[in-house]
Amino acid sequence: MTTNLQPSTTNYRWWQTGVIYQIYPRSYKDTTGSGIGDLCGIIAQLDYIHDTLGVDAIWLSPFYPSPMKDFGYDVADYCDVDPMFGTLADFDDLVAEAHQRGIRVIVDWVPNHSSDQHPWFIESRSSRENPKRDWYVWADANHLPTRDGVLPPSPAGRGAGGEGNLPNNWLSVFGGSAWEWDKATGQYYLHSFLKEQPDLNWRNPEVQAVMFDTVRFWLERGVDGFRVDVAHFIMKDPKMRDNPPAQEELAFHRPHGDYDSLHHEHDKGHPDTHRIYRRFRAMLDEYSASAPRMAVGEIHIFDWAEWATYYGTPEAGFEFHLPFNFSLLKTPWQAQAVRRAVDELEDAIPPWAWPNYVLGNHDEGRIATRFSVEQARVAAMLLLTLRGTPTLYYGEEIGMTDVEIPPEQQLDPFGLRVPGWGRDRCRTPMQWSAQPNAGFAPEECAAPWLPLANDWRHTHVAAQLEDATSMLSFYRQLLAIRKEYSALHRGSYAPLNEVPNGCFVYQRAEIGETITVALNFEPAPQRLLLQGDGKILLSTHLDRAGAENLSSFILRENEGVIIQMQNAK
Ligand code: NOJ
Repeated sequence: MTTNLQPSTTNYRWWQTGVIYQIYPRSYKDTTGSGIGDLCGIIAQLDYIHDTLGVDAIWLSPFYPSPMKDFGYDVADYCDVDPMFGTLADFDDLVAEAHQRGIRVIVDWVPNHSSDQHPWFIESRSSRENPKRDWYVWADANHLPTRDGVLPPSPAGRGAGGEGNLPNNWLSVFGGSAWEWDKATGQYYLHSFLKEQPDLNWRNPEVQAVMFDTVRFWLERGVDGFRVDVAHFIMKDPKMRDNPPAQEELAFHRPHGDYDSLHHEHDKGHPDTHRIYRRFRAMLDEYSASAPRMAVGEIHIFDWAEWATYYGTPEAGFEFHLPFNFSLLKTPWQAQAVRRAVDELEDAIPPWAWPNYVLGNHDEGRIATRFSVEQARVAAMLLLTLRGTPTLYYGEEIGMTDVEIPPEQQLDPFGLRVPGWGRDRCRTPMQWSAQPNAGFAPEECAAPWLPLANDWRHTHVAAQLEDATSMLSFYRQLLAIRKEYSALHRGSYAPLNEVPNGCFVYQRAEIGETITVALNFEPAPQRLLLQGDGKILLSTHLDRAGAENLSSFILRENEGVIIQMQNAK
């Protein structure tokens, strides 16, 4: 299969040259006083998104009807808006208002699992004979041989075939077994996440059809793209074999409880996944005749050859425009390690495919907390000057930090089940101003759904707009320079070798334009030997710009600079 919609090197699409800004709707702007952000709140901030930031697309985490056990990633209706966020009419307004400003809208699509309150699951669990029984993954106790053909032992006191004899050893990402016993029908159902998030059975053609219909529903409403939740989870081993034990410690990996004790060979990422995404992509391409649509897949795979298979191929068919690249989230914050991560990724990407980078999202710690406040600007400069599409998480532009949430106020089910993994800390309300509730919610709101950061009275958008040296001022200049210089948003990437250990220096080039990005990861000055003259376009310190002789260039502690080369060789 071929398609002319895969970008050529001269015909760049918005999702390649642009910047994606992730909004966690619950935490962006509350217009009703409920303490929870809503779609009208996002509409109200579109001028900020467009005029102040100048990003190109927004990705909205789920706003669908949901019991909110996993804050919207437990979808009870794929084709509506939860009343707490507004209405479908609000969504249509949001798309129209965004498009009027040239902002694209990407929505979350959660194909692996629904809520247990979705009518499909309610039917499915109602009886073994129900026509939707097979829409989810059901299994008898002990009905499967293990990897070695040996049945798993029955826990003492329980008879074979009944509760307690788990179908296999698969584990939930959120802790414990991935199987939940359904007493009424005497079978287990699979949940890769919470038990309130049963996995859909993508091997059933009816499931494929109804789920693709949900994609069409949003395409018809004008969305420009999808972020696909745990995209590689949808197809599992059809024989449901046990996962083997994990062989080795994952490099740079934060221990993740029992889940890490197994090698997740069989519970996700089955090769059949690819044929589903080829069809998904074909549907997006069909709709791209009117306006280019895109999909970015959440793929937590760190074997780059395997990861790259989620782009698809020109021969077999394309899949994701972008499989999320989370390498920088797993890399120690050291210049050489970061360079290695970037180079490995560059090497793994097929020549026709497009890279992308992520430094934060609603599942990860904030940049300023992970890398230090001093390094947050260097990190932003990296994210926004590497070759590929950056995704920027709301609040990073004002340097929001992780918020320590007292145990009694913790809400995230992951953190409540697996200590240390709580994600509330990076989901706190956006800090807009020194008004009550940080301008996130109206004054009459008693309390936002999560506590505000302690620094909200002085770290907020309004103050930073007035301060020429603020994080926001820095981000605004960085985003503007990225937009202005084509070498930065679509040029080639080449790392420089002769640089001090603590620095990562690379060039981005387009015909007639070479830009050097020099990043110092250390709290000590470093001397760079670059050739020729250059013009500093931006320093993370925001205190120098203009012509410079580069033969002996000092990069100050924790400083990054973008230099336009004047006579590059
Ligand atoms: C990945 C999402 O980013 C995360 O927030 C969610 O909890 C899981 N998928 C389950 O949907």
